[in-house]
Amino acid sequence: MKRLEGKNAVVTGAASGVGRAASLLFAREGAAVACVDIDAEMGAETADMVKDEGGNAVFVETDLTDPAAIDDMARTCMAWQPVLHVLFNNAGVAERAAFDDISLEDWDRQVAVNLTAPFLCSQKLLPALKAAKGAAIIHHGSIDGVLGNPTLVAYSAAKGGLQPLTHVMGYWLAPHGIRVNCINSGALRESKQGIPVRLNRDNRAGQPMSDVQRRATPMARPGYVEEAADAALFLASDESSYVNGSVITLDGGRTGLTPGTF
Ligand SMILES: NC(=O)c1ccc[n+]([C@@H]2O[C@H](COP(=O)([O-])OP(=O)(O)OC[C@H]3O[C@@H](n4cnc5c(N)ncnc54)[C@H](O)[C@@H]3O)[C@@H](O)[C@H]2O)c1
Repeated sequence: MKRLEGKNAVVTGAASGVGRAASLLFAREGAAVACVDIDAEMGAETADMVKDEGGNAVFVETDLTDPAAIDDMARTCMAWQPVLHVLFNNAGVAERAAFDDISLEDWDRQVAVNLTAPFLCSQKLLPALKAAKGAAIIHHGSIDGVLGNPTLVAYSAAKGGLQPLTHVMGYWLAPHGIRVNCINSGALRESKQGIPVRLNRDNRAGQPMSDVQRRATPMARPGYVEEAADAALFLASDESSYVNGSVITLDGGRTGLTPGTF
């Protein structure tokens, strides 16, 4: 039995990285997947990859910084599948800058994609999630949102908001049979399937794990996007039926250690 047989999923940030890996994995496990992204070319490519494997997918081009576009996306997805079992709020954007150099525009965009969009997508898709009578929302957070990465100021602050958002949504949506959880990832830099991992718009080739990150990680390797997709599948499936309002850390052991002691 496939783990998402007969279910419908929306995956944001589906054009590359974790979102592409999760779209492929969810479809392989039987779900119909709406792939949402601002990147029309690579987003449509993800949906085509799912269809090439015999799965059911649609691409929905959406700029998640725009609340009106999120409204349109929700209407399109609910017209496609009126019942929604899984929402993976995975899209993210990370721009490195010194504190003095961050423009309000950059701050707003990173807060919009990383924090406001998970809230709004969840709220706008709620009728379809309630209709499932057993649904899962998964946010994609970051270990930077727990302590704060000085080179990713706005990103850290926005991802930090996802953790309490997960807790409070877990409270409000439990009566509707909707579980809400979050994955806090560390450095995901590789793919077992050759999927590009970008982190920001100008970085189509991705970037390797830094030596500093590698030394700070007991497992001494970067994460694969497929490992984050596996965690999302667990949280999406009935195997996690009593997991709600929780945050899973996926970082090779990096944040489990007291900094400066090794
Ligand atoms: N890769 C890592 O090291 C890492 C670490 C921690 C957390 N994460 C989180 O994982 C998630 C997936 O990122 P990834 O690593 O796969 O990177 P990625 O850049 O490959 O994927 C992110 C996707 O989000 C999309 N996106 C960005 N802005 C958007 C917008 N305005 N509207 C719609 N879509 C938009 C991008 O087009 C891209 O397809 C993100 O939330 C990221 O913060 C990644």
